[in-house]
Order: sequence, then structure tokens, then C-alpha cells
Amino acid sequence: MALRFAAGLALLCLSLAAVSSRSRRALEIGVYWGQGGSEGSLIDACATGNYQVVNIAFLNSFGGGRTPLLGLAGHCDPTTGGCTKLSKEIRSCQALGIKVLLSIGGGAGSYTLNSTDDAMSVAVYLWNNFLDGQSSSRPLGDAVLDGIDLAVAWDLSSKHWDTLAKALGKYRDQGNNKIYLSAAPQCPFPDSSLQPALSTGLFDYVWVQFFNNPPCEYSGGGGSRETLLASWNNWTTINASKVFVGLPAVPEVAVTGYIPPDVLRTRVLPELERSSKFGGVMLWSRAFDRGYSSAINPEVCGSVETRSASANDVAMLPMGNNYGGARGFKSCRGTCVIV
Ligand SMILES: *[C@@H]1O[C@H](CO)[C@@H](O)[C@H](O)[C@H]1NC(C)=O
Ligand SMILES: *[C@@H]1O[C@H](CO)[C@@H](O)[C@H](O)[C@H]1NC(C)=O
Ligand SMILES: *[C@@H]1O[C@H](CO)[C@@H](O)[C@H](O)[C@H]1NC(C)=O
Repeated sequence: MALRFAAGLALLCLSLAAVSSRSRRALEIGVYWGQGGSEGSLIDACATGNYQVVNIAFLNSFGGGRTPLLGLAGHCDPTTGGCTKLSKEIRSCQALGIKVLLSIGGGAGSYTLNSTDDAMSVAVYLWNNFLDGQSSSRPLGDAVLDGIDLAVAWDLSSKHWDTLAKALGKYRDQGNNKIYLSAAPQCPFPDSSLQPALSTGLFDYVWVQFFNNPPCEYSGGGGSRETLLASWNNWTTINASKVFVGLPAVPEVAVTGYIPPDVLRTRVLPELERSSKFGGVMLWSRAFDRGYSSAINPEVCGSVETRSASANDVAMLPMGNNYGGARGFKSCRGTCVIV
């Protein structure tokens, strides 16, 4: 009964959010989480209400005969099963309407796809260990992630990402859940390693990295958006559902390409929104998002407030006690947030 009530409330909340946001072009915000112990927990990131997509970063060792390994610096130790505790948080995020993807790759790691066979076996591994498949040693436990993000940044000469994408695409038809595919190419167009994969047309989200790439990013001092927009106009031609701008959340996390939030909101987003492919903003990263996501969209919720903890409206959601209690839901930019 309580479960049905909570589920009904969540549905009501999602449909209210859909109605109230119809008048306005949706700006989705994604974030990478997993590369810093100081960034707080996954559920705390989700509970801010500021994000619609969270990429768990990274599975940074795989392919070429390696034993696949998560690198969630400072959060948990995957070698002792320590990251299975994240299942509950992943399900909690999903209950709030947030998509949680596993990002594979990253800037520091050890991964290659040596052949098409290698790409196929990585796809099987991802399906069994993070998606709808079965494995006795799922690194993040039983939670079924919403999809896979390709963040190829270590060996840019590596190939076969298209084979991996197509193999994951085949699983889409088998699973109970939709499998989202996303990718994080660099802004010089086309991206040398990911373009063959992107050409498959299978990607739901493409977050293009518009920083540390002077030929195609916003250039700070002079305040010029022209190089970014010229590149953006190429990116919106790709066969993908939504294209996001990937940006640093603070200046110090990038060498170049930071865009102050007010500049992004008033001078850049209005231009990007001209394209029907525009999806939103992907931030690097949760550890550095000290107000950027709130500043670029005044409709984000900010932090979850705790009120009393007597009734039990949402206790059946999988967040556990910290997020139970008499709080109810507030609709927030397309998701529901506990208040
Ligand atoms: C895979 O490719 C990498 C880089 O090209 C190479 O170092 C490694 O030996 C290869 N592994 C296998 C199992 O072929
Ligand atoms: C985009 O990709 C999809 C899926 O592969 C394909 O069906 C469609 O024809 C492609 N569209 C274009 C314009 O290439
Ligand atoms: C746009 O894409 C074409 C290749 O399709 C490339 O030659 C050109 O340099 C690109 N321009 C920008 C500004 O990225």
C-alpha cells in the first residue's frame, strides 16, 4: 500500500513536471560523478535536483585482455566489492527520474579495443555486469544502469568503438529497459576516435568537450563565442538525438574554455538553443560544481531541504532513512525532488 502510494505520487509528480515545463525549452544538465572523494555521495548529487543525467566515471580499464576495473577515486574499492553499495543510490537517483550511465574510458586509465572481437566481448561484459544481463560479480551490484557513455580520452588512436556501439545497440531490443548510449568527443570536428561510432546513429546523447580545445571553444579574455559556435554548427549535423555542450564547472579544472555562468546563460545558450538537437550542458565535474549548475538555470532546485521526519510518504523509495520521512515531492525541472 505504502509502496503503491509512493509510486503514485512519483508518477503524479512527473506528469505535473511535464505539464509545467511545456512552455519552456528544457535545458538538461548532466554531470560526471566519481572522480573525487570530496564531491559527496551519488545520492547527494542526485538529490540536489540540478541534474537529469549522471555519468559514473569511470570504468577505466578494459579491452585487450585486461580484467575490467572501475576507478572511482576516493569513493569505493571495486577490488573488494566495495562499490556494490552504490546500487541503492543508483536506484534512488533513478526513482527521482535521473538517468545514471556508466562512463567507460577517461583521461587516466588503461583501455583499448584491439579488434572487433574484443569490442564484442567488452559489450557482453558491460551487458552482464552493468545492464540487464547476469553476472555473479557485478561491480556496482544489482542496479541496472540506464546506459553506457563512451569517454575515449586515453589512446586516441584506438578503434572499434563503432563495433562496441552496435553491439550495445543490439542489446537494446533484448532488455527490459532502454539502454541509452552517449559519447564525449572533443570539439574539433569530426572527432578522430569516435566519429565512426557516432556515424552509427545509435547515440542518444553526445556531450562535446568544448574545453582544453582552443580551436573550437569559447575564448575567455576577448569573450568570443564565434569559434565555439562555428564548431557547434558542425556538431548539430551529426545523427544523434541530442547534443550537449561539455564545460568545466570552474576555471581551474580546465586549461582553457571556461565560460562564466552568466555569459553562458545570456550569450551562448540562446544561440545553441536555435538547434532542435540542443540538449543542454554536461559539466565536468560534480566535485567542482559549486554553484554553476544552479547559476545557469534558475529553475534548478538547489539543495534538498530536510523538514520533519515523522510520516513516511517516501520511505518506500530506495534511498534509505536519510531520504525518507515527511517530506513529499517537489517538481523540479522535469524531475521530482524530495523536500
Ligand atoms: C592490444 O593493443 C594494445 C595497444 O595496441 C597492445 O599493447 C596489447 O598488447 C594488445 N593486447 C592484445 C591481447 O592483443
Ligand atoms: C541515423 O541513424 C539511424 C540509426 O542507425 C538510421 O536509421 C537513420 O537512417 C540515420 N539517419 C540519417 C539521416 O543518416
Ligand atoms: C566542419 O566540418 C568540416 C568537415 O566536415 C571541417 O572541414 C571543418 O573544418 C569544420 N569546421 C569547424 C569550424 O569545425
